[in-house]
Amino acid sequence: MTNHPLQIRPATDQAVAEAAALIGAGSLVAFPTETVYGLGADATSDNAVAAVFAAKDRPDFNPLIVHFADAQAVSRTVAFDQRADALARAFWPGALTLVLPRGPDNPISLLASSGLDTLAVRVPDHPMGQALLEAAGCPIAAPSANRSGAVSPTMADHVAASLGDRVTLILDGGPCRVGIESTVIDLTAATPVLLRPGGIAADAIAAKVGPLAAPETVTGPARSPGMIGRHYAPGTPLRLDARGPRPGEALLAFGPDAPTQAPGRILNLSPAGDVVEAAANLFAMMHALDATGATAIAVMAVPETGLGCAINDRLRRAAAAPD
Ligand code: TXA
Ligand code: MG
Repeated sequence: MTNHPLQIRPATDQAVAEAAALIGAGSLVAFPTETVYGLGADATSDNAVAAVFAAKDRPDFNPLIVHFADAQAVSRTVAFDQRADALARAFWPGALTLVLPRGPDNPISLLASSGLDTLAVRVPDHPMGQALLEAAGCPIAAPSANRSGAVSPTMADHVAASLGDRVTLILDGGPCRVGIESTVIDLTAATPVLLRPGGIAADAIAAKVGPLAAPETVTGPARSPGMIGRHYAPGTPLRLDARGPRPGEALLAFGPDAPTQAPGRILNLSPAGDVVEAAANLFAMMHALDATGATAIAVMAVPETGLGCAINDRLRRAAAAPD
């Protein structure tokens, strides 16, 4: 990871322009929203999104919220139904996140949605966040700008204390107005599900789309990766800790000593042995090998260091019996 000296900059047009350029170059920028500060990265870049997970020390790949300048940009990226439209009209820009099916030909990094076929989307209501989204010209993936397990930051100083020089630039917009995270509503099933209470009251949301289900009452595939543990798993079985492919298998390789020739397809997560690069490639490569028709995907060991822990967590879940 790059270790630029950390800068905290007040909300000037020039600081926003510099932040947008950094995002465009794949760097991380912390920025204010009305809820909490976000740790932002170009949502279309697997590498930039992997850097977000690395900076947060996230022990697993919880999917991230992707921020857009307006509802129109959102509707080009996810399948927007009538309920989403009603909620967007009532509460965007604002402290509401909607989980919706990813649209076809989706440019958003698969790592941002942890390989799921859904995406959490939000239009934030903060002039500086808005200005950054417009200037960057790309959707911005942003979890709260704190290390994993720490409290969400509502001031620029909180971000600096938690992340230090893991973030290149912090845009200082003063204290966040709402101060708690956005409400997360899953709209991928017939009944909307309240995945996380937050800045917009559940009652106000129910008034627009009808009663909300609580996550624990939902049967079938669990809907909150963070809370319940539904994760992307390929249809093809995984064989972990492989040294190479057996006949009929594809190989998800890692590191410089991995086989490069086999009858089946081989994709190397990181020929250099870099776990951040491996994280950036993980879900896209799992999808690609899943589509080869192999009897199984042999997976080489990934070191249990840094993002390697999150990679192994996901691989073990994907290898476990279907949920
Ligand atoms: O207010 C907020 O929402 C802040 C600001 C920066 O926008 N962001 C934030 O992000 O709190 P984060 O990553 O700390 O929390 C994201 C939540 C997690 O509970 C995650 O599991 C859920 O959203 N989530 C993200 N994508 C999801 C998906 N595809 N399906 C279900 N839940 C999802
Ligand atoms: Mg958080």
